[in-house]
Amino acid sequence: MNTKKRIMSGMRPTGKLHLGHYFGVLNNWVNLQDEYECYFSIADLHALTTKYNQTDDMKQNVIDVLLDWLSSGINPDKSIVYLQSLVPETAQLHIYLSMITPQNWVERDPTLKDLAKIMKDKNENMSNLSYGLFGYPVLMTADILNFNADLVPVGVDQVAHVELSRDIARRFNNIYNTDYFIEPQPKLTNVPLLCGLDGNKMGKSFNNDIKISDTDEITEKKVKTGITDTNRIRKDDKGNPDNCAVIYKYWQIFGTADETNEICFACKNAQMGCAECKKRLAQKINDKFAPIREKRIKLANNIDYVKDILNTGSNNARKRAKEVLDGAIDVIKMYK
Ligand code: TRP
Ligand code: SF4
Repeated sequence: MNTKKRIMSGMRPTGKLHLGHYFGVLNNWVNLQDEYECYFSIADLHALTTKYNQTDDMKQNVIDVLLDWLSSGINPDKSIVYLQSLVPETAQLHIYLSMITPQNWVERDPTLKDLAKIMKDKNENMSNLSYGLFGYPVLMTADILNFNADLVPVGVDQVAHVELSRDIARRFNNIYNTDYFIEPQPKLTNVPLLCGLDGNKMGKSFNNDIKISDTDEITEKKVKTGITDTNRIRKDDKGNPDNCAVIYKYWQIFGTADETNEICFACKNAQMGCAECKKRLAQKINDKFAPIREKRIKLANNIDYVKDILNTGSNNARKRAKEVLDGAIDVIKMYK
């Protein structure tokens, strides 16, 4: 009997992943694969909630996310990797859950509220906020409950959604007088957040990210744009790493303790300029990601194999999802 606890998580296919995804979520997933039974979903339906009219890149984005996952160490022999839209049981479960979810619960969702506010402020057409978008957290709940997952490893920005999933699971159990659904819990990593090169949140739309799949040259070019101690203008100015908002923070993640101390000392004593410091940092980043990038190129050259992984994973996910859905339909007492 399988006594491992179950994990379910997902990412929207928005394009090639960056190092914020890697350290914030992906690396965490990779490390959980032995201890847990894992389901990882490429959430293409969630992408559609806001990008329903920008679907030209959808197929490529799915492949890119898959390549990033597999090269980073998501192992299809250990975990089930699947595409959300290839598991229609999730859409079915979503509709049952949507019936029992109070409308004011989804309206309270902080992410949706933010989104609505941004659109209002930008004077955008509010009809771009679709009915499906308001179902975002309910669809996420369907993803999680479809496997009766115990834990959901996500970044901080997703915790509110997982809390809502708990509430919906509990409400289902109360309404139908059952303990059918497990109340899932968020599982956070305690790694420090990797900010973007401009000091803001890393994101592809902010043009401040380094991709997992960037080449060494592009990585070096991007690192050059990183913010340093702004009081340090010339090379013989003494620097203060505590005021070095981006580059020194990266050192603390990518360097060993010894290396980071050495950088700190050289900076404080003006023994090394920022250009040199950045060049060395880029080298560290490139060294760390070299095996992942190499693997990614190999996989990209073997695309049929990669697609096969997604199809097999989706079929396996379906089997499990169907069992859980059928049980829920019984609990609701639908005619069948
Ligand atoms: N909403 C998540 C994100 O944007 C992706 C996601 C979809 C997810 N379904 C999920 C995360 C289920 C955890 C569990 O990152
Ligand atoms: Fe930052 Fe390095 Fe420049 Fe010091 S030398 S300010 S740590 S980039």
